Amino acid sequence: MPSDLSLKAMNAVHRVVRTITFGKVGNNLLGMPVLELTTKGRKSGQKFLFPLFYGRAGQGYFVVASKGGAPEHPGWYRNLLANPEVEIQVGTAKLRARARTATGAERAKLWEQGVVFWPPYADYQKKAGDREIPVVVLDHLTPTQRRALVIADNRIAENAGWDDAMLRIELEALQLEGFDLDITGFDADALAETLRRGAAAVLARSNAPNLMTYHLGGGNPTDRHAAARWLQPMLGKVDDACLLLTEGAQVALASILVSQGRDDDAILCDALVYPGLLQAAAALGRRLLPVDSDEHGMCPEALARLARESGARLVYLNPTCQNPTALTLPLHRREALARVLESERLLAIEDDPYWHLTEEAPLPLATLAPRHVFYVATLSKVISPGLRTAFVRCPSAAHAEAMTAALRATRLMGHPLVSALASQLLLDGSAQSLLTQVRTEARERMRMARYLLAPSLLQRAEGLHAWCRVPAPWTDATLVRTAQLQGLAIAPSSAFCPPGVQHQNGVRLSLGLAADRRQLESALRRIDRLLLSDALPAIER
Ligand SMILES: Cc1ncc(COP(=O)(O)O)c(C=O)c1O
Repeated sequence: MPSDLSLKAMNAVHRVVRTITFGKVGNNLLGMPVLELTTKGRKSGQKFLFPLFYGRAGQGYFVVASKGGAPEHPGWYRNLLANPEVEIQVGTAKLRARARTATGAERAKLWEQGVVFWPPYADYQKKAGDREIPVVVLDHLTPTQRRALVIADNRIAENAGWDDAMLRIELEALQLEGFDLDITGFDADALAETLRRGAAAVLARSNAPNLMTYHLGGGNPTDRHAAARWLQPMLGKVDDACLLLTEGAQVALASILVSQGRDDDAILCDALVYPGLLQAAAALGRRLLPVDSDEHGMCPEALARLARESGARLVYLNPTCQNPTALTLPLHRREALARVLESERLLAIEDDPYWHLTEEAPLPLATLAPRHVFYVATLSKVISPGLRTAFVRCPSAAHAEAMTAALRATRLMGHPLVSALASQLLLDGSAQSLLTQVRTEARERMRMARYLLAPSLLQRAEGLHAWCRVPAPWTDATLVRTAQLQGLAIAPSSAFCPPGVQHQNGVRLSLGLAADRRQLESALRRIDRLLLSDALPAIER
C-alpha cells in the first residue's frame, strides 16, 4: 500500500504529465482510472487540483475522501464542504459538477464499489477509527443547472431566496435575472415600444427639472389620480388624503411595520407567509404569531383569541391567491375577519398583489372594514416589477401621515421619473393592455398546471403560484434538492414559515418563471414524475 508521502509524490508527477499532454496521458494512477478534481480553497479562494480514483454514480462520478486512513478529512474534502461547486476532468472531458456526501443506502453501495476497485480502502477505514470515510458524489451539471444552483444558493443564503427563490421553475428563465415570480410573457418589441411611447409622453408633458428635484413623496396629483383610477375596481372611490405611492409593496410593508408598532411587538399572520414579510419582520425585530386556519383561510375566532392573548394589534393578510398557497379567501370569510378587526380594534395589512388575476375576486377587506385596513396594491405582479410602483390606501389620513414619515426616514422620496412613467401607462390604457396579457398568460399556465400535475398533489389555485402537496417518502427539502439537480427550481414550505413554526410538507411552484409555456410544460411533467415516482429521494438531508 503506498504511503501518504508516496501518494503525494505520485500526484505531483501525475499533474506534470497531464499538463504537458493536455490531459491525453495520465488518466490512471497505479493502473487505476483517475479524474482530476479542482476545488476552491476554503480560506484562500484559490483553485487546487487533485487526481483521485473514481467510480461511476448514475450520470456522475464518485470519489473517496480516504486520505490513506488519516484521522482527519483531506483538505480537498473540506474545501468542497465549503464550496461544493467543482470542476472535474475525466479523460479529456472537462465538466462542472456539484459535490455532495453520500449517506445511507447510497453511501453503502458506493463504498462497496470503491472497495472493489481499490481494496486498501477497507484498511483505510479501520485506520481512520471514528472518522467515517466520506464518499463524495460528483453530480455532473449542465450549464443551465449550474447557473440555477448558483442563483438558488445565493438566494438561500440571502434567505430571500426562496422567493425570491426562490421558487421558480425552469432555470433558463433565470437568465433574465429578472423577477422570479412575475409572468414574462410579453413580446419584447411591443413592450419596448410601449415603454418608449410612455417615456416620451412623460417628458413631453412634464417639466424636466421638476422630475429631477426633491419631492415630498407619496406621489404628485397626477400619480394620485392614476392610482385612484387603478384602485377603483377594488375599492371604489378612494379618499386622496389616505392614498400613498410607494416603490413596490415591500417598501410599503416595511413602512407600515415601522409606523405601526415597536420592537418586539407581535404581528399576527398565516402559518405560511410571503417571505418579504418574514424579512421585514426579522429586520425590524417583530415577532410573527401564526393564527390557525382552515380550508377557507385564517379563522376569525382564532384571530380574535390570539389577538386578546398576545396583545398584538397588527395582522398581515394576503387574501387573494395567497403566496405561497394560492388560496383565495371567500367573501364570507373576509366578512367574518372584517368583523373581528372591528370588534378587536385591530389593524390589518391587506397585501393584495394578485387581485386582478382571479376570475372573480371577492371584495377586499379594505372595503369591509375600511378604518382598519392598509390596502397594498403593487403593480409588480400584474404589470411589471420593474416599475417599482405600489399604491397604499391607509385606514385614515393620520395613518397615511405616519406612514409617510416612515417612508421618508428610510428613502426620503420615491423616483419621480419612474412614478411618472407608471402613471402614464395607467392613464393612457397601456397598463390595461399589459394586464390583459398577464392575465391570459397566467390563466393558461395555471390551466397547464392543473392538467399536468396529479390532482391529488395540486391545491386549487389561481394566480402565479401552484402549491403542491409533497407525498412520502419525499420531504420538501429532499424534493427541492433533487429538483435542483434536474434544473428545476421550486420553493420548500420552510421558506415561508415564520420562526419557530413547523415546516409543512408542501412546495411552491412559480408558474411565471419559465420563459415560455413549452418550457413550463416540460418542467411540470418532470415535477409530476418526480413526485409520483417511488424512487427514493436522491438526497437525504
Ligand atoms: C404577497 C406579495 N407581496 C408583495 C410582493 C412584492 O411586491 P413588490 O415587488 O411590489 O415589492 C410579492 C412578490 O412576490 C408578493 O407575493
